[in-house]
Amino acid sequence: MKLKSSAPIGIFDSGIGGLTVAKAINDALPNEQLIYFGDTAHLPYGDKSEAAIQAFSIKIADVLLDKGCKAIVIACNSASSAAYLLLKEYIRDQAIVMNVIDPMVAWVGNQVGNKKVGLIGTKRTVQSNIYLQKFNHLFPHIELHSLATPLLAPMIEEGFYNNRISHDVIWQYLSDPQLNDIQALILACTHYPLIKSEIEKFYQPPIQVLDSSGIVAAQLHQALAKDNLLRQDTAPPRHQFLVSDFTEAFASSAEVFFRSKVRLQLHRLWN
Ligand code: DGL
Repeated sequence: MKLKSSAPIGIFDSGIGGLTVAKAINDALPNEQLIYFGDTAHLPYGDKSEAAIQAFSIKIADVLLDKGCKAIVIACNSASSAAYLLLKEYIRDQAIVMNVIDPMVAWVGNQVGNKKVGLIGTKRTVQSNIYLQKFNHLFPHIELHSLATPLLAPMIEEGFYNNRISHDVIWQYLSDPQLNDIQALILACTHYPLIKSEIEKFYQPPIQVLDSSGIVAAQLHQALAKDNLLRQDTAPPRHQFLVSDFTEAFASSAEVFFRSKVRLQLHRLWN
């Protein structure tokens, strides 16, 4: 199928965490029109089964394909680990499909060298062992130590960061012996860039704290350029932000995640 360069880019997550990726894509590719889908009715994905996340992801892909997206970015580690292969198979040549895991693995494998690297993410992502399998296969010089940190995404969605509670939760998790002596830390959840500076403060002397947003945006840029799919029209694009359930709280946090004005529209996945 011939994709159109003027078509929008679809991006999705369980909620508003993936807006950190959308923001990086908007910074790297300001000409592109974005259609963001936050599956707020089914948040959090991190404690759902693989089958449930696959079903949600297929439904969301249908919405984004209906809107004619030339690329679909799974801006969620939990959905990337549970549903990327299935989505690629389902979407085939109707759009470019990207996840947030492969670009990070490639970046760490090529840039970080021989190191003990820590990783924090949801239960779904950590229990899938997907990062470990990819590092073992592609970059066996990386020694990966992963820890599930399930309180962090709901805490951030509720607006609890840069305060005493987030400080205590972060300190408790990062003190886990599993993460002792790491030389870099992967933030394997798209919500975590919002607490990146708090996480960095924990490490004295500092270590590299890596979030995937910029890395994913750069990879998407490359993929679109390679296929001559960069939008040429310089008229400012009108982004759309869809959510499967709507609350005022989401509407205001969405602006914090995207760092500019966002108007959320309700779009139910099942009627
Ligand atoms: N943003 C999602 C991720 O990257 C996690 C949040 C959730 O549990 O829904 O895994």
